[in-house]
Amino acid sequence: MNLAAGKIYKGKEKSFRMFDRIHRRYDLLNHLFSFGQDIIWRYKLSQGIEKKDNQQLLDLATGTGDVAFSLLKHSPRIKHAHACDMAQKMLQLARKKAIKKKLSPKVSLLQGDAINIPYVNDIFDVVTMAFGIRNVTNPSLVLTEIFRVLKTGGKAFILEFSLPANKILRKLHLFYLRHIIPRVGAVISRDKHAYRYLNKTIETFPYGQSFCQLMQTAGFRNVRFKPLTFGVVTIYQGEK
Ligand SMILES: C[S@@+](CC[C@H](N)C(=O)[O-])C[C@H]1O[C@@H](n2cnc3c(N)ncnc32)[C@H](O)[C@@H]1O
Repeated sequence: MNLAAGKIYKGKEKSFRMFDRIHRRYDLLNHLFSFGQDIIWRYKLSQGIEKKDNQQLLDLATGTGDVAFSLLKHSPRIKHAHACDMAQKMLQLARKKAIKKKLSPKVSLLQGDAINIPYVNDIFDVVTMAFGIRNVTNPSLVLTEIFRVLKTGGKAFILEFSLPANKILRKLHLFYLRHIIPRVGAVISRDKHAYRYLNKTIETFPYGQSFCQLMQTAGFRNVRFKPLTFGVVTIYQGEK
């Protein structure tokens, strides 16, 4: 695990291009590799939403939009979701899914960089980012940006991969990440780098208390984290 808080991660500047390359198989592989758990993880994010009406949501690194759609479905108090990503083809797919789910009037999709969020200060009640912050060059800068666009009292929820604390589970999970996912992912996505990149970024990204420190440094208070599914993913939350 890389504990260098706020380290600039080189080689991730263009990670969104890789997601554009695999966009057709992205949802399928998510469900397959997580054994369907990804749907539950996104649902769990919605459980932290406050019981306050007319909330404005920003979902960063939205990809094909599943977090925004899940929150709109499970948290009726969210009035509108702004969903932002760098990858055009992932956004195109999100647009088609929004139409199919009849959610288009409640979702605005926008191409934008999480490192330089294309919105003014203090306008969102909730900002979410699922499996995105691991893919940016400077996670600390993204957290500072999230803090900037949140209203005072607003909440950030970050869902990201982590590693199980139990040594045996951790070994088994690392075997799965290093040997099974890259091989199956290469065949199904037809991209031999994408699912090799996944395990490298998971193994080098700060998680648990280390990630909470990054959030606190960005200004968040009441920072908490909750590992899910034996710790293979973690939900972090913090308040402005
Ligand atoms: C693993 S996907 C996560 C998608 C979605 N949040 C989900 O839960 O399935 C990571 C996404 O981050 C996006 N991304 C990478 N760098 C980004 C950046 N600097 N700003 C915004 N999005 C970025 C990629 O294009 C990709 O769609």
